[in-house]
Amino acid sequence: MAPEPEDDINNEKNPPPLDEDDIALLKTYGLGPYSASIKKAEKEIKEMAKKVNDLCGIKESDTGLAAPSQWDLVSDKQMMQEEQPLQVARCTKIINQNSDDAKYVINVKQIAKFVVGLGDKVSPTDIEEGMRVGVDRNKYQIQIPLPPKIDPSVTMMTVEEKPDVTYNDVGGCKEQIEKMREVVELPMLHPEKFVKLGIDPPKGVLCYGPPGTGKTLLARAVANRTDACFIRVIGSELVQKYVGEGARMVRELFQMARSKKACIVFFDEVDAIGGARFDDGVGGDNEVQRTMLEIVNQLDGFDARGNIKVLMATNRPDTLDPALLRPGRLDRKVEFGLPDLESRTQIFKIHTRTMNCEREIRFELLARLCPNSTGADIRSVCTEAGMYAIRARRKTVTEKDFLDAVNKVIKGYQKFSATPKYMVYN
Ligand SMILES: Nc1ncnc2c1ncn2[C@@H]1O[C@H](COP(=O)(O)OP(=O)(O)OP(=O)(O)O)[C@@H](O)[C@H]1O
Ligand SMILES: [Mg+2]
Repeated sequence: MAPEPEDDINNEKNPPPLDEDDIALLKTYGLGPYSASIKKAEKEIKEMAKKVNDLCGIKESDTGLAAPSQWDLVSDKQMMQEEQPLQVARCTKIINQNSDDAKYVINVKQIAKFVVGLGDKVSPTDIEEGMRVGVDRNKYQIQIPLPPKIDPSVTMMTVEEKPDVTYNDVGGCKEQIEKMREVVELPMLHPEKFVKLGIDPPKGVLCYGPPGTGKTLLARAVANRTDACFIRVIGSELVQKYVGEGARMVRELFQMARSKKACIVFFDEVDAIGGARFDDGVGGDNEVQRTMLEIVNQLDGFDARGNIKVLMATNRPDTLDPALLRPGRLDRKVEFGLPDLESRTQIFKIHTRTMNCEREIRFELLARLCPNSTGADIRSVCTEAGMYAIRARRKTVTEKDFLDAVNKVIKGYQKFSATPKYMVYN
């Protein structure tokens, strides 16, 4: 048995590689019998605690108040005493600007003018001439700079709650979505591409097409997707009683838009204000035209690389003023046509997604049965089918319901359809 010791030495020099059992054994080193299950329990506890916190955080009561256990009346009262309401004034002039003893002339409406200093919490660079400021009630010192005053009815147009429509809820319209995203998203996400090429990104998009083809729907989907501030204006909101009010609202609207980092302004039904200019001899429509001209002016006014995008939607593009439509103002025009067969099938599927339907409904067949119908028609078909099912006291909608509904909506309501009329106008 001479070779054995030599073998041992060899083995020590190049030990055989570990096989799986060895690795498994090594892995158990240092682990107690229950450590895996303890770790799991700990993780679960953590998750549960997070869930509880989440639930507490968003809990809402009917009154909108926090739970009584979280009230801190004493400190609230103290805070109320410390912070007295400020008064709004306008800083009309700065005396000895850029020196240590700069003084500010403020004008408090209906009281008087004062020459005052700054409060402790404002720096001289924050205050400019012509600014609105908040002053305290004792010494009228300037306490905070205020943003410019914007009409509350304009502020209300900001869409704060995102609509729950996504691109997935828009059937068909692939091309339109693509074109819209190109204009709206690309310049905001990759401005450098435009700078490199030396072109100005398009400022705005006009969506046009027959009623019910998804113009407003797509704009809502855009609003949902983007993190930019979304302002929605209905054309008729800008038509006001007094001369100059509409134009002022447009101005304030764009002023507000410019104060945001990125902003999309959506004018729905622009035909209310964007009609071609004409003279009716009385001057009644002049006001509306002035409003439109202010929009034109504002479209020219802002820098295209600034992050304001303007979307407009209408179903009477022929009535719009050419000045509004010329390239450089609304560069892109996106037509929303009637959906084709494939899109109609898709729209059927979208609108039946939440419905309690029989399985294996032939949506292609249904789509084929509604030629020349819009997305809104198809939605109406789905609703009617549901109504048939309710009338028959059934819990699911069958294919026959859909066929009946197609007959009723598409054939029966044909004379209400606005599409042929639209085709005549354009
Ligand atoms: N492509 C589509 N996909 C899914 N649903 C659609 C589509 N087009 C229209 N609809 C349905 O029709 C409804 C009305 O569409 P929308 O409000 O977008 O019409 P519109 O084009 O703005 O019409 P109008 O010019 O009269 O304002 C939508 O709420 C939606 O349910
Ligand atoms: Mg609309």
